[in-house]
Amino acid sequence: MATQDDDVIAVLKHDHREVQEMFARFGEISATDAQERRELADAVIIELVRHAVAEEQYLYPAVRRYLPDGDEIADKEIADHAAAERTMKELEEIDAGEKQFDDVFGRLVFDVQRHVHDEEDNLFPRLATACDAETLRDLGRKVERAKRIAPTRPHPVAPDKPPLNRLVGPGTGLVDRARDLISGRGKGAP
Ligand SMILES: [Fe+2]
Ligand SMILES: [Fe+2]
Repeated sequence: MATQDDDVIAVLKHDHREVQEMFARFGEISATDAQERRELADAVIIELVRHAVAEEQYLYPAVRRYLPDGDEIADKEIADHAAAERTMKELEEIDAGEKQFDDVFGRLVFDVQRHVHDEEDNLFPRLATACDAETLRDLGRKVERAKRIAPTRPHPVAPDKPPLNRLVGPGTGLVDRARDLISGRGKGAP
């Protein structure tokens, strides 16, 4: 469990590990258990959307600010998020009993793993060098807070570039969470 004093890199890496554990669990579910597959896929989507929104609100703006080629890096990461969001939207609309569900889930896993490696191998080490410890801790606190109110469903039509995504975020998060509460979606999600 991430604590309040964790810096932004520790907080985000913790999220990455959680999602990777869910990916591994998905492979262990029987192909005939459509309900369990749906529930786990929903938990993956919830976690990924919250994580992505928090990164877009705080991590990538810091990347733009502190790294000389930050704009280029942030634009690329945001484009990855937008692609993953479209895949998650597809996944929401396919019945978990369909063969196609596996294909789309597999594509999501592949793209997210590549994105995670890119962040952990390139972006995080560079940001750690460019920022002091207090800045990293402050960003960590902001990311934790953003995740608590972030949307839980993919909204691929929402603008992916700040500052517009920040305006879409909170209200959309409220609506998503109300829907989740009523439907019981994501009950087991972290
Ligand atoms: Fe990311
Ligand atoms: Fe990430």
